[in-house]
Amino acid sequence: MDILKDKTILLGITGGISAYKAPDIASKLRQLGANVDVVMTESAAKIITPRTLQSITNRQVHTDMWQPVENFRAGHISLAESADVIVIAPATANTIAKLACGMADNLLCSTVLATRTPVIMSPAMNDNMLNNPVTQKNISKLKDRGFVIIEPGYGHLLSGKIGQGRLPETAEIIDIIRLVLSRGGDLKGKRFVVTAGGTREAIDPVRFIGNRSSGKMGFAIAQAARDRGAEVTLISTVECYPAAGIRMIAVESAGEMKKAVEEAVVAADALIMAAAVADYQVEQVSGNKIKKADGVLSLKLIKTPDILSEVKGSFIKVGFAAESENLVENAITKLKEKGLHLIAANDITAKDSGFGSDNNRVTIIDRNERAEVLPLMSKREVADRILDRIKEII
Ligand code: CTP
Repeated sequence: MDILKDKTILLGITGGISAYKAPDIASKLRQLGANVDVVMTESAAKIITPRTLQSITNRQVHTDMWQPVENFRAGHISLAESADVIVIAPATANTIAKLACGMADNLLCSTVLATRTPVIMSPAMNDNMLNNPVTQKNISKLKDRGFVIIEPGYGHLLSGKIGQGRLPETAEIIDIIRLVLSRGGDLKGKRFVVTAGGTREAIDPVRFIGNRSSGKMGFAIAQAARDRGAEVTLISTVECYPAAGIRMIAVESAGEMKKAVEEAVVAADALIMAAAVADYQVEQVSGNKIKKADGVLSLKLIKTPDILSEVKGSFIKVGFAAESENLVENAITKLKEKGLHLIAANDITAKDSGFGSDNNRVTIIDRNERAEVLPLMSKREVADRILDRIKEII
C-alpha cells in the first residue's frame, strides 16, 4: 500500500512566486490517497487563491488565525495535532526567519510552533536572498531543531538569472515526504542491499553484451524497503533518479556488481538480488574498438562470478529466478544451490509481466519448498510481498 494513503499532510504555502506550483503538490498528494490540509499565509493568497486549493483538496483552506473553527479547539492546535507531516513549500526567507525566531504571528507559524509533527521545509527564493548569511543561519537553526530541509533547485529564477533558489519538482518534494513518513515503518533499523538492472559485459570500449532487464523490480524493492523505514543500498546498472535516502551505487559488469555487493552486505540484514546478472563475460576485452573485417568474428566467453552463491554472511539471501519452463522445479534447484532463504520465480514467457513491465507475476518459494503463487500485481506490490516474507524470517 502506498505510504501516503490516508495520511494527513499539512501543506503550508508562503508568498514566494513559486507558490503557483503548490496546487500541483496538493493535487499529486491527493491522487496518491493523502488528505491535504492547506494553511496559506496572507502573501501566498495574493499569488494563488485559496479557492484553487480548496477545490483540489476538497477541504477548507486555512488562511486566518481568527477564522471561526467548527470545534472548540484552537485552529492551530488541532491542525498541528492531526497532521502526520507538515510541509512548507515554498518557504520564503521571511517565514524561515520567523520560524527560526519562534514567532507565531500568523496561522502557519503558530501551527509549526505548536506541533510535534515532523516538519519539511522547501526554501525557494531569489539566490541573493538565499545566500544571504542571515537566511543561511536561519535555515541551519531550523535544521538543528530537526526540520528536514529540501535543497533548493538550481535553474532559471524570477530575476532572469540562473542560480539556486527554485522550488524543486513536485516528485522530489513528494519523495522527501515519503522518506519522512517512512521513519516509523515496520522495517525500521533494518539494512537492505538490493541489486537492479541487467549487467553489461564489455566487448570493447563501445560494445557490450547486455540483457532486457529494466531494473524496475529492483527499484520497486528498494523504494518499498525505504518506505517501510529500512536503510537501503541500491546497486544498479540502470541510471535512475534514486528515491531520497537510498544509497545508490552505479555498476556495470557482474564483476563490479560482485565487488559492490561484498562491500555493502557487511552490515546488512538482507540481500535481494533482483539484478539480471550475465552468466558469461568476454575473456579478452579489446582495448580498442574492434574493426569490421571479412569472415566470422568469434568471442570467447567465460563464466562470470555467481554473486549470490559466492557472497557469504549471516544476512538473509533472496534471489530471483527467471525461467521459461519448469518454473517451480528450476527455482527450487537455484534456491538450494545458491543457499537462499527465498526465491521469487517468474515466468519470462508471460506477456503481461516480467522484463520492462510495471507488473509482475511471481511465485515465492522458501527453504521448505513451500510455493506461494501470487497473482499478477504491480512490481511495488510484489516488492511488499517479498519484504513481508523477509520480515517473517528476520
Ligand atoms: N545471479 C548472481 N550471479 C550470477 C547470475 C545470477 O547472483 N552470475 C543471481 C541473480 O541475480 C538471481 C539469481 O542468481 O537472483 C538467479 O539468476 P538466474 O539468471 O535466474 O539464474 P542463473 O543462476 O543465472 O541460471 P540460468 O541463467 O542458467 O537459469
